[in-house]
Amino acid sequence: MTEHAPDFLVQTADLPWVPQGSNNVWFKPIRINLKKGTWVNLLKVARSGVVNRHRHLAEVEGWVLQGKWHYIEHDWQASPGAYVYEPPGDVHTLVADVEDESQPMLTLFSIHGPIEYMDADGNLAYVETAETKLKRYTDYCKEAGIEPADIVF
Ligand SMILES: [Fe+2]
Repeated sequence: MTEHAPDFLVQTADLPWVPQGSNNVWFKPIRINLKKGTWVNLLKVARSGVVNRHRHLAEVEGWVLQGKWHYIEHDWQASPGAYVYEPPGDVHTLVADVEDESQPMLTLFSIHGPIEYMDADGNLAYVETAETKLKRYTDYCKEAGIEPADIVF
């Protein structure tokens, strides 16, 4: 039988926005499962523009809370209330379409495995995993002098 975490509740307002390698993108780690290599995070993008190009090694589900965004490779635009599914192997480039900077793009992503980020030439630049996501969070907490919340389930 698969082992599952007990029930839990996380107040996302209590979690910090962690910079995701630029001054335009942040994430709030909500739940990280090191055993399964999965994680759930809120993504925030403050201004319009290309955020990144990446390939998923596992499924992703997203739910848009605020603002709009699209992928260069797909012909739809995600807006509040939209649910998005990304299959393993999908390569796409996220572009935030922020009309009002007081209303940043906010999307909840449930990520089922590693993400391979690519540079402008399409070369592998960085692999994000549950471990690297947790490290970004704990490093940020250390730097900011805050106690990390228990988000590893
Ligand atoms: Fe993606």
